[in-house]
Amino acid sequence: MSTSVSFARERLDTPTSNAALMRKYDAVAYAAKSNALSHPDHMAVVATLFGLDPADVATCRVLELGCSDGANLLPMAASLPDASFVGCDLSPRAIAAAQSAVAELGLSNVTLFEGDLSAMPETLGDFDYMIAHGVYSWVPATVRDALFALARRRLKRNGILFVSYNVYPGCHVRKAVWESLHLHVERIEGASARLDAARAFAAALAEPGTTQNPIDALPRHEFRQVTQITDSALYHDDLAEPNDPVYFHEFAAHAARYDLRFVAEAKLSMTAADTSPAMQRFLAGCDRLEREQLLDLAQLRRFRQSLLSRGESATGFAIAPERVALMRIGASVPLLRAAAEGKPLMDPGAPGAPAGDEAKALQSLFAWMIAIAPETLPISEITQRLAWSADTPRSLEAILTDACVRGSLRATLRPPALVALAGDRPKASAFARWQAGRGTAVTNLQHETMQLRDENALRLLALLDGSRTRGELTTVMADALPGWEQPRVAQRVDEYLAQFGKLALLVS
Ligand SMILES: C[S@@+](CC[C@H](N)C(=O)[O-])C[C@H]1O[C@@H](n2cnc3c(N)ncnc32)[C@H](O)[C@@H]1O
Repeated sequence: MSTSVSFARERLDTPTSNAALMRKYDAVAYAAKSNALSHPDHMAVVATLFGLDPADVATCRVLELGCSDGANLLPMAASLPDASFVGCDLSPRAIAAAQSAVAELGLSNVTLFEGDLSAMPETLGDFDYMIAHGVYSWVPATVRDALFALARRRLKRNGILFVSYNVYPGCHVRKAVWESLHLHVERIEGASARLDAARAFAAALAEPGTTQNPIDALPRHEFRQVTQITDSALYHDDLAEPNDPVYFHEFAAHAARYDLRFVAEAKLSMTAADTSPAMQRFLAGCDRLEREQLLDLAQLRRFRQSLLSRGESATGFAIAPERVALMRIGASVPLLRAAAEGKPLMDPGAPGAPAGDEAKALQSLFAWMIAIAPETLPISEITQRLAWSADTPRSLEAILTDACVRGSLRATLRPPALVALAGDRPKASAFARWQAGRGTAVTNLQHETMQLRDENALRLLALLDGSRTRGELTTVMADALPGWEQPRVAQRVDEYLAQFGKLALLVS
């Protein structure tokens, strides 16, 4: 059953109050989209590698705070029918959009709450996975406290909380830009007038003047970026109030006050310390939290997507490569992109990069994974095929884990739901079919959102409910391609289907 509940709203109306925030999200809708790093399967992969035993994703309970119109929550719910999902957001406009999507999709495993996350009813029960994406830095301090307090009460012992937030030192440069924009727009009334004024001002500030120093290039680059981003990003990030970056050590200490411990970054490649040899000397001997803070300084990071837990790690939160044996492995998006662009699949110069026989084996594994993408394989099959010899310096598990950390491979704990090749009666995921009838954004079975700007591709995708043969699809598509001979339409349909398979949109 899908339900919606409203909470009483606070009375105080300051520029950063919930009432003011709600008005802003109602004035300019947030362009929410799926975030593959916040998917419970991905959280489970990272948590497992770092020594935790997270809940089975197929039957888990998920809470998303600040879920907006459900762009992240609903595709998860559609692909995990035995799991249950709760979404909460302050914005009536966003929750109304999520509610109608739930009804149209016929989802029975989603509950939506309109209101302040601080006021969520305790009757909701406990959660295996909690998500707060784009919330922590963009709400008042009291709401940040309430978020962690809710996690302390409602996150199960082996549960995982995903939190994204802006960080220093990278955000010092961004903050200089934000403050200049605020000075310019603070007395301008109305969202669209503010957006126009901010863009015009940023465009002027992006131009180097004759008296400027070469080192001014960095803020000018930021101003140029501001002129190019969407209304949603400009209004709800650069012009957002509040927008409070923190240092990582402050975030970790805040979480610790609520018994939440840092597990790892959701983006595994952020755990790799690709820093200079001089920086490596500073990193040596640091504990893991000090190391994370130093990496932010060394890499001038501006954004983090951290996983937190209340539980103990069997490995003291150290990565345990042997745990990859539980997973399936496939090519990552960056690896597929490198292959498509004809770029090298490995950087032999990167610190700790595989060499010799290891590098050769990985090259052939990458080529194989690219060929079968988006399908994944269990480790047992990879071991057999590569005929990995036990006397190599590192185990296959260690090499695969390393390739996942470096971002070339991806791991999953889920049995495969997708197929790379369309069958006799091709079928696309129900969520992508629903999206295809409504716009150009499409979320695939790896929880990635892409833009399909070809209206015939969207039309075909919407038809793929598994009831039509390729011949029947060709007949329907002939209407959309007037003047095309039947064999040419059939060929086009085959090409689209092959493309959908590669984009992880097809199910068996
Ligand atoms: C920047 S948007 C992020 C939306 C989405 N999670 C994403 O990243 O695509 C922040 C969302 O948090 C919601 N929000 C802000 N304060 C909240 C609160 N106190 N309780 C619940 N939702 C809140 C806003 O309405 C908005 O939809």
